Amino acid sequence: MNRLPLFPITTKIENDCLTIDGQALAQLAEQYGTPLYLYDGATLNAAVDAYHHALATHYPGPASVTYAGKAYLSMAIVRWAVARNLLVDCTGAGEIAIARAGGAPPAQILVHGVNKSLADLRSAFEHAGTIVVDNLDELKKIKALAADSHNSIPQLWLRLLPGVAVSTHHAHTQTGQHDSKFGMTYEEALTAAEFCKEHHLPLNGIHFHQGSNFRDPEPLLPAIELGLDLAQRLGLGDEWHFCPGGGWGAAYHEDELPHPSIEVYVRGVAEAVKEGCASRKLRHPMLHLEPGRSLAARAGVALYRVGAIKKRGAKTWALIDGGMTDNPRFALYGARYSCLPVSGPGGERSELVSIAGPYCESGDVLIEDLPMPKLKAGELIAIPVAGAYHLSMSSNYNGARRPAVVWLEHGSAKLIQRAETFEDLLKRDV
Ligand SMILES: Cc1ncc(COP(=O)(O)O)c(C=O)c1O
Repeated sequence: MNRLPLFPITTKIENDCLTIDGQALAQLAEQYGTPLYLYDGATLNAAVDAYHHALATHYPGPASVTYAGKAYLSMAIVRWAVARNLLVDCTGAGEIAIARAGGAPPAQILVHGVNKSLADLRSAFEHAGTIVVDNLDELKKIKALAADSHNSIPQLWLRLLPGVAVSTHHAHTQTGQHDSKFGMTYEEALTAAEFCKEHHLPLNGIHFHQGSNFRDPEPLLPAIELGLDLAQRLGLGDEWHFCPGGGWGAAYHEDELPHPSIEVYVRGVAEAVKEGCASRKLRHPMLHLEPGRSLAARAGVALYRVGAIKKRGAKTWALIDGGMTDNPRFALYGARYSCLPVSGPGGERSELVSIAGPYCESGDVLIEDLPMPKLKAGELIAIPVAGAYHLSMSSNYNGARRPAVVWLEHGSAKLIQRAETFEDLLKRDV
């Protein structure tokens, strides 16, 4: 089955080799070394356009898209998000610092976090336009900070725990189920709203997020109903905000193709909000969607070099120069990937290959038993759908240095993050 639709939209096979944005991957690997991460600007832009177009088509009220920075955050992607008029969702003070360094103005920064520290909240007061409140204890800290604050207080949204799970590929990527650590129950949200009223805190929105990497918007509908019930009960005023989170999925493997479009998701949400507002005689909220993966995942490709091949029983291992330190998703929750060789990607897939990294963990695997053309030591492979939750969850395990990241657009390649060095590994030691 054709694997190219997993890759960025500008990917081609030219002279029997993979190119993205017209640039030969072999040449990029030569220039920047491997492992190497590539982001394709055209693919990022096409995903944003799809969100904006679908919102304009299906939602009659005001709407906005927030980039979930947890998917991948760097100054370059923040600059891109700001240029595309996206808000940036930051979890905690560290991500806020990156967003500010990348030029996001406070009005475009929204702060999440399930147990925000005082430092996180202080940073949010200084640098953000919105705080999504996770729990009542956090709200008490916000009240104390508000009393001391010389700045204006960020607007507050309540994070509702809808108690409805979406179907994701693993329990660890679900967040909306009734026993989740995230957000407030309906009753807690009522108490939180009362607290805001009593202490004159600027509450004007409701948020929930049910999970990440789902492909059917149906389970969002009861959660949207619950959120709108809460909004009606709270009477948030004429200009209020409603955010049913992010989480729309991406196809990682050819078996998951075709993935339903961004429009299917947006239409499902927009119609539910529209109809729910009409039946409750609620004014249309500013509808926020908060995608990370469906904006960034397909735009990213990870390039690795094969160092050795081993045959072990029925298994053929291709050992590469990256792995769980730049992409822990297989180790964390058995994520399934596909792959192509950079040279001869159309070759006959005559072997079942498992792809593993150089680190001292048997779980340092990226792919198991994938039909591939015969691989040999020294050649390059490209793993698609590498743009979300790889580098943002990366580590220095075994002294690994995080790879360089290059942005491809309009035929030019720009280094946006250099590879880490040995000096970087020692920077914190005293
Ligand atoms: C609150 C919140 N918003 C948005 C997202 C983005 O999810 P995704 O990258 O799947 O769109 C997440 C991810 O877990 C999240 O927790």
